[in-house]
Amino acid sequence: MADSPKIVVTRRIPEPAVDLLREAGDVWVSPDDRPLETQELHDAVKGADIAVTLLHDKVDGAFLDAAGDQLRAVCNVAVGFDNIDVPAATERGVLITNTPGVLTEATADLAMTLILAATRRIGEGERLIRDREPWSWHMFMLLGMGLQDKTLGVVGMGAIGQALARRAKAFGMDIVYSDARRADEAVEQELGARQVEIDELLRTADVVSVHAPLMDSTRHLLDADAFAQMKDTAYLVNSARGPIVDEAALVEALRSGQIAGAGLDVYENEPEVDPGLLELDNVVLLPHLGSATIETRTAMGVLAAKNAVAVLRGEQPPTPVNPEVLEGARS
Ligand code: DGY
Repeated sequence: MADSPKIVVTRRIPEPAVDLLREAGDVWVSPDDRPLETQELHDAVKGADIAVTLLHDKVDGAFLDAAGDQLRAVCNVAVGFDNIDVPAATERGVLITNTPGVLTEATADLAMTLILAATRRIGEGERLIRDREPWSWHMFMLLGMGLQDKTLGVVGMGAIGQALARRAKAFGMDIVYSDARRADEAVEQELGARQVEIDELLRTADVVSVHAPLMDSTRHLLDADAFAQMKDTAYLVNSARGPIVDEAALVEALRSGQIAGAGLDVYENEPEVDPGLLELDNVVLLPHLGSATIETRTAMGVLAAKNAVAVLRGEQPPTPVNPEVLEGARS
């Protein structure tokens, strides 16, 4: 009888996902609830048929070679897959899957939260109370920016960008967006959204919110030149990937008043945060919480597990990143 397939999970994921995986093979879950060091990761995936990875795991040629020729799929528990060298996987016939769709609403909620927190100075208010500073209500205390009739600039109008735009519209904002691809006409109409060049977006938006994937073309898309184009009353929000923003340039723009404020959920060198950001009051800082609801994290784990199980059963996985690998296997 053939051995049961080996499924390696590089860090703890929600139990319903592990239960699903157990139906399809022998599951090993890293007992260390931390990112594995490179060597530990390579040792862990050695001999795996399926690797279930997290966004902090670097899946490159060395990882794939360490796993071995029997590796069939890497199922990333994230919609983003910038931690994975997809061409290297495709070259080796290894399928990559991600978890689109299930985290759209939670991430858009978080982006809207950051917009509100930054523009209404929520962090400053909270710190004032917690620091037990004496205060009394007055007309000019911690005044922020209202959103009604302001313009939201969405950088990257995929599912999450659209879901944020929907929320922002309910707050009375006008929507412009930049994206290599035009959104569906129906979506543009529903949201009253207008596609513009990134320069126009930067010049006109009162809030710029980033929802693009991290790729060579988006690395440092928001840099010193971009901040110089933004209004000095405008805010930047990033809940996508840290390296899309030049963090040092952002510190400078916030410090000098070139822009009014920022809300960040992601960082250039996660989990490091530029010390310059920590000193600033006009930035709200969160630890990559975009998809952090019980429902969403469970759905992400389950979707990754469904992909793994489908591969092992020779079925069509729900969300492949490099489906050409499946075509190759079929032909
Ligand atoms: C993702 O899925 O890419 C998110 O960053 C995790 O919240």
